[in-house]
Amino acid sequence: MSNMTRKEFLETLGVIAAGSVAFPWLSGCTTEKQRQAAGEKARLGIIGTGSRGQFHLANLLLDPNAQIVALCDDYLPHLDAASALCPNARRYTDYRKLLEDREVDGVIICTPLHLHASMTMDSFAAGKHVFCEKAMAYSVEELNAMYNAWKAGDKVLMIGQQRLYDPKYIQAMELVHGGAIGQVVGIRNYWYRNNDWRREVPDPKDERRINWRLYNEYSRGLMTELACHQLQNGSWAMGGLQPSFVQGTGSIMYWKDGREVFDNVAAIYQYPNGVHMTFESIISNKHFGMGEQILGSEGTIDLVRGVMYNESLERRTVLRQLLEQIEQGVLSSSAFAGTSWASEAASTSKGIRFADNVRVNDGSSTVGAAGDGSVELIHAFCLAVISGVQPEKMVEEAYWSTLLALLGDRATREGGRIDIPDYAGSVAQIH
Ligand SMILES: NC(=O)c1ccc[n+]([C@@H]2O[C@H](COP(=O)([O-])OP(=O)(O)OC[C@H]3O[C@@H](n4cnc5c(N)ncnc54)[C@H](O)[C@@H]3O)[C@@H](O)[C@H]2O)c1
Repeated sequence: MSNMTRKEFLETLGVIAAGSVAFPWLSGCTTEKQRQAAGEKARLGIIGTGSRGQFHLANLLLDPNAQIVALCDDYLPHLDAASALCPNARRYTDYRKLLEDREVDGVIICTPLHLHASMTMDSFAAGKHVFCEKAMAYSVEELNAMYNAWKAGDKVLMIGQQRLYDPKYIQAMELVHGGAIGQVVGIRNYWYRNNDWRREVPDPKDERRINWRLYNEYSRGLMTELACHQLQNGSWAMGGLQPSFVQGTGSIMYWKDGREVFDNVAAIYQYPNGVHMTFESIISNKHFGMGEQILGSEGTIDLVRGVMYNESLERRTVLRQLLEQIEQGVLSSSAFAGTSWASEAASTSKGIRFADNVRVNDGSSTVGAAGDGSVELIHAFCLAVISGVQPEKMVEEAYWSTLLALLGDRATREGGRIDIPDYAGSVAQIH
């Protein structure tokens, strides 16, 4: 891409200097901050010690800047499981009691979606820093209330969007913002699984508590649980530009087991410059797995695999093959006149791997390092609690991921086109 084209491209996105504005949330983990925090520990309480709560707990027990002082869950089997990992932490079944604990500097909220906003706002009111799992909130109203409560106060807020701290995503976005794939012309996200998305329920009376993801009262289904992570790629690749509208569809077509949320959804988001981003999820076929791709006029980035493909190299390869075939007499030169030689099949190029040791993680593991940015993210929260320094633009990134997920969910349920309000300037402006 020529300098002029790149400059114009960046201006279109409202980005003045590539690189300097791309990863502002990492400001909270600079070497200087880490030096200041060395030897200090963030005193933390975990609210919701189910699957994700225990995952964070296991990682924080290995973090030199973390001390888990309190645990809370109102479902005893989960509280007991967490206590077994961390016997010295005080136990609470009412999160308000944990919030009264003066030794707790920051809380990590890992409860079902419908509780995120109220628990976060109560935590701010109690003077605590907050890490809250994604999605940020259950409704647009709660999302705005949560954002405004954070903005009005002086406490740190971080949301569980771990891709923002995943080295391979950061490298990928450096390539995108540096112009390596030319102009961004499309963003594709998909997440396929083949399972019922249910958890084992020891006592039938706990069905809704354990399988909260499947019921509208607590969850917005595939859009808030899965899409929320991937839609963030749009804001990030587009330099903070947000879509103007979303259209969607969804249904319960396979897992007809009493669930209320869709088992398949598709949503298309269109940006003001005409680019569109897709999200599709089906949980009764997993052949294509999880995919996130940034398509550019000069190349393609596969975010999940950490590989970049160059369009012009591939064009040259096709042309070279053609010339060789003509030289070998396999094709006559008149083949140029037609299109029969030009294969429309997907490229088989191996591309250029830009990130090593890539491990694909869907966030479902319960203990141990995930290799997906989760460990870096929760460590950054510890540093933020110790220093009181809010990682810049992190909340805005999470705000938009959740807003797009919530409006996408509305589009899939209503089946129409939902306009995306221009919040820039009034609520959460990213860049
Ligand atoms: N960032 C990621 O990759 C990722 C991965 C998995 C889950 N998550 C998110 O983490 C959150 C929790 O998911 P999960 O899979 O751990 O669910 P889970 O059901 O395993 O755990 C939720 C826990 O919250 C507890 N809880 C519910 N109401 C409570 C209350 N009023 N007070 C105290 N505890 C209460 C439940 O008893 C349960 O133990 C969700 O928002 C989910 O989207 C994020």
